[in-house]
Amino acid sequence: PQTFNIVVLPGDGVGPEVIAAAQGVLNTVGDFYGHRFTFEEHLIGGAAIDATGDPLPPETTAACLASHGVLLGAVGGPKWDGGPRRPEEGLLGIRKAMGLFANLRPLQVSPVLAHRSPLKKEIVEGVDLIVFRELTGGVYFGEKTRTADRATDLCEYTVGEIERVTRAAFRTALNRRGKVTSVDKANVMETSRLWREVVTRIHAEEFPQVQLEHALVDSMAMHLIRRPRDYDVILTENMFGDILSDEISVLGGSIGLLPSASLGSSGPGLFEPIHGSAPDIAGQDLANPVGAILSAALMLRHGLGLEDEASSIEAAVAAVLAAGAVTADLGGALGTRAAGAAIIDAIRAIHWAAAHRVQ
Ligand code: NAD
Ligand code: IPM
Ligand code: MN
Repeated sequence: PQTFNIVVLPGDGVGPEVIAAAQGVLNTVGDFYGHRFTFEEHLIGGAAIDATGDPLPPETTAACLASHGVLLGAVGGPKWDGGPRRPEEGLLGIRKAMGLFANLRPLQVSPVLAHRSPLKKEIVEGVDLIVFRELTGGVYFGEKTRTADRATDLCEYTVGEIERVTRAAFRTALNRRGKVTSVDKANVMETSRLWREVVTRIHAEEFPQVQLEHALVDSMAMHLIRRPRDYDVILTENMFGDILSDEISVLGGSIGLLPSASLGSSGPGLFEPIHGSAPDIAGQDLANPVGAILSAALMLRHGLGLEDEASSIEAAVAAVLAAGAVTADLGGALGTRAAGAAIIDAIRAIHWAAAHRVQ
């Protein structure tokens, strides 16, 4: 049996609620496959500001770097909006400190779930795409200045930063439908012109067998709603990826469904749902825990190399959603805890069926 040291960063708002559900699922999977997950909890975001004044205490960074994987809930909330330090600084800081330059945000819309989307079923059923969002560069990390009547945010990219996330996206495309759509604003931004140049060169030199297309971010936002099935791997810079991934969450019916994996070239990864702290529903057992639970699955697959274990979580989630056992964001009646429990039951059922060879 293997022991994995997982750092959990519950954070703020619904973060602790969805992380508790994900931990329950990991414990169940561990029992079936003979792994032990130890959970070491640390402070980040607003919770860390309240306790220490620092949104990313040094102990948190050290623990994350020494772990096998990090599971994060969400940070932020109105409570800290006026403060000198912001919770979001903690999240950006840990991504940078761990070197997590590639943020993977997969989305699949199975035919049985397509009716949950506010978009037409014919448009969304069968969608299967993955966003590769550059995570440690761009306008998020450029110099910021502020005087009473002027503010600036510098958007900066180096060739090396673009190359490494581009290679990650192309490698993934080779194992999927073989298509990459690189999204930029090359008609306006110099960083985007560099982005397009680098992506074009890496494609020609290293991945000519992959189909590459370039798209401008404004019309891409429209195409993603009108013909989302046309896309396979979407490669883009930090801020465009942030915005487009919340947009595509609508295809599946709720932002509460989407997981993410943040990976570097070595060392542990960080896994978190794409949603935020959802202050409007926090503390009410209303949050959808699926994004966090699927993030735990991505941690098993990409972080710990446990493919079967990851697949068993994904199969359980799919079964529960298909059965209509969903939270309020998808029109259901289940609370966060009940939804987590339903997924744990589904994992047990899948294993019981496998052990007894029931088809
Ligand atoms: P949000 O994602 O928190 O919420 C947007 C909407 O989606 C809200 O109506 C919310 O109730 C709903 N929602 C979000 N997650 C849900 C879930 N699991 N189940 C059901 N409904 C869910 O975005 P926001 O309101 O723009 O931001 C709130 C705070 O969260 C801000 O402080 C922001 O900085 C922070 N934030 C953090 C992260 C993160 O930690 N990774 C991500 C995004 C936003
Ligand atoms: C996300 C969030 C973060 C981001 C914020 C909270 C800093 O929106 O993870 O998508 O913009 O990266
Ligand atoms: Mn976001």
